[in-house]
Amino acid sequence: MDHSGAETASIAHRVFTFEENNTLPSLTVSIPEVLDPQYGMYVWPCAVVLAQYLWTHAEELRNKTVLELGAGVSLPGVVAAKCGAKVILSDSAELPHCLENCRRSCEANRLPDVPVLGLTWGEISPDLVLLPALDIILGSDVFYEPEDFENVIVTAAFLLRKNPKAQFWTTYQERSADWSIEALLHKWKVRCVHVPLEVFNANRAHLAGSALPGNHTVQMMVITLRTEDS
Ligand SMILES: C[S@@+](CC[C@H](N)C(=O)[O-])C[C@H]1O[C@@H](n2cnc3c(N)ncnc32)[C@H](O)[C@@H]1O
Repeated sequence: MDHSGAETASIAHRVFTFEENNTLPSLTVSIPEVLDPQYGMYVWPCAVVLAQYLWTHAEELRNKTVLELGAGVSLPGVVAAKCGAKVILSDSAELPHCLENCRRSCEANRLPDVPVLGLTWGEISPDLVLLPALDIILGSDVFYEPEDFENVIVTAAFLLRKNPKAQFWTTYQERSADWSIEALLHKWKVRCVHVPLEVFNANRAHLAGSALPGNHTVQMMVITLRTEDS
């Protein structure tokens, strides 16, 4: 199968509308999805939940520098950019079609200046080392393949060590009761706090006008550097 890009694939736009709140009007974004069974080609339920978390933290995001890891079609990154963050999107350096998807999502939402980088989890590449100072790292459904868990945490821990005040905001889908990242978090000296979905009004089967969360069990975590007293 040819995964080289949009010229050969069918694209459909999925629209998400985040509800107005006390201070902000509603936000509508349109995400081009590629009709292809590959992981990074369409929006995953975790992405809608993370995007809802971002929307409820919109004020906090303004002017922050935000990096999205494993962005795929980048719903969270696009929402963060619409909230006024300076966003950098990334996906595996080995998957150029996913990097193309990031660019396409930016174009569809009139975000011409968002850089897209190839960052492969676990690889300390020049692009990773040369990133600017970060405030927030995003990762939606990046903990889906147990053999990659440590590489994701290595990348996040590297970035948190370089940016000790930064936070890694991540959502994961419970796919197996056996999977756990606790030991890896301990090994790489980071800590995690679970954020209940009801805190940001995401405990719903429908979010942002989408039925994507459905009955999937999605969890939200904030991962930070472990300090002496944490
Ligand atoms: C389950 S998809 C989630 C995509 C998107 N974040 C979402 O929630 O809609 C996992 C993403 O991780 C990316 N990915 C897989 N392996 C990777 C690696 N080793 N380094 C960086 N990104 C990777 C895939 O290309 C894909 O975009």
